[in-house]
Amino acid sequence: MTDSRERFLIRYAGGFAPFVVARAEGAWVETADGRRVLDFTSGQICSTIGHNHPRITGAIRQALDRVMHLNSWMLSEPVLALAERLASLLPAPLGKVILLNTGSEANEVALKLAKMHTGRFEVVGLTRSFHGLLAGIASVNFSMAHAGYGPLLPGAFALPAPYAYRCPVRHCDGACDCTCLEAGFELVDQQSVGSLCALIAEPVLSAGGVIVPPDGYFRRLRELCEEREMLLVLDEAQTGFGRLGTMFGFEHDGIVPDLVAVSKTLGGGIPLAATITSPEIEESCVARGFLHVTSHVSDPLPAAAGLAVLAVIEEERLVDGARERGEYLLERLRELQAKHEQVGDVRGRGLLVGLELVEDRESCRPANALGAAVTGECLRRGLSMNIVRAGSSANCFRMAPPLTITRDEIDLAVEILDASLTAVLAERPELTRV
Ligand SMILES: Cc1ncc(COP(=O)(O)O)c(C=O)c1O
Repeated sequence: MTDSRERFLIRYAGGFAPFVVARAEGAWVETADGRRVLDFTSGQICSTIGHNHPRITGAIRQALDRVMHLNSWMLSEPVLALAERLASLLPAPLGKVILLNTGSEANEVALKLAKMHTGRFEVVGLTRSFHGLLAGIASVNFSMAHAGYGPLLPGAFALPAPYAYRCPVRHCDGACDCTCLEAGFELVDQQSVGSLCALIAEPVLSAGGVIVPPDGYFRRLRELCEEREMLLVLDEAQTGFGRLGTMFGFEHDGIVPDLVAVSKTLGGGIPLAATITSPEIEESCVARGFLHVTSHVSDPLPAAAGLAVLAVIEEERLVDGARERGEYLLERLRELQAKHEQVGDVRGRGLLVGLELVEDRESCRPANALGAAVTGECLRRGLSMNIVRAGSSANCFRMAPPLTITRDEIDLAVEILDASLTAVLAERPELTRV
């Protein structure tokens, strides 16, 4: 029988949560029947300053009183202020901004600019990457969503992701030495038709299983791109504005990319994104007729929300908070790893943390069914977390609570996860091989 919630909605990702949400605040959502659920995914990893932060709702109210939408060639104060603020947060020469709506769009625009500037079209991504679901950008999504929609863009190549726990080139054991990167570029060079344009990457691969590249990875990646005159595009949809304990993820390796795409975390729950590049790239593209005029480019209302988000991140020192609370979360999860054989790996940076469930430590086989059962049990006990899927594995919890999360809330989440794992393992021992 069709669920009443499914009567009028296209099921865009399988099914829906078994409840309807009435309100949300901070790290919590409240269901229509009065249950409170701790949201360890910050919505879609957007609500980094907490759900419905009063500064965001206040900024939106002000925009509703003044101006929320305009013809795209008319600019407003929030748009000008946000562009200037983003330019001031990013290192030189990243000083030219376009304000957009979604992460897919920001990445599409970055690649459009890269193609127009270089006059080339081949784009390299990482396996297990996710950059969005629009047709162009989905061509370099190597974690999912290729099957069933017809041809992808030509000229998309994959580099093996630096996934130390399951080395893609069967070389490293637990600590990546970047052989995947060198071998990957050799493959790219041999497949290229001589039109290498750009490489796009997430600083930490989130949807692909919270894969944290080793220190220095992006410095070497940058060199390999420069040798080929390719531009480097960093997709900071989830990592921008503090989640990794730095304002931007690329700061970790001390590099400056040619283009940066930010989205989810900028709007704090409102559709807002931006692509940022250098004056040199902007000028050359404009001279060649760059066009990206959409219904909601440079809209004042989301820009006002973005300004509020950035102000709160600075005033509440949330970047430092993410680093400190991320270390605490990792520490607590390592305690769980010591207790449960099925917790194969715990990894992360700042407040982007992954926990991989395995059937047993020796085989390290992904425990997909266990992951699904534990997710359901956690939700029943009041914790919302999701398992991310990449290829045939669906066994990695990706945790990304709001940066405002407290230690008590982290303790509660770990307690619920621990109890859920214990209960599922006791009731359904067939889900493991131990
Ligand atoms: C790293 C990354 N880039 C891009 C996107 C796509 O963003 P959107 O869904 O806003 O188009 C996502 C969405 O999950 C993402 O995680």
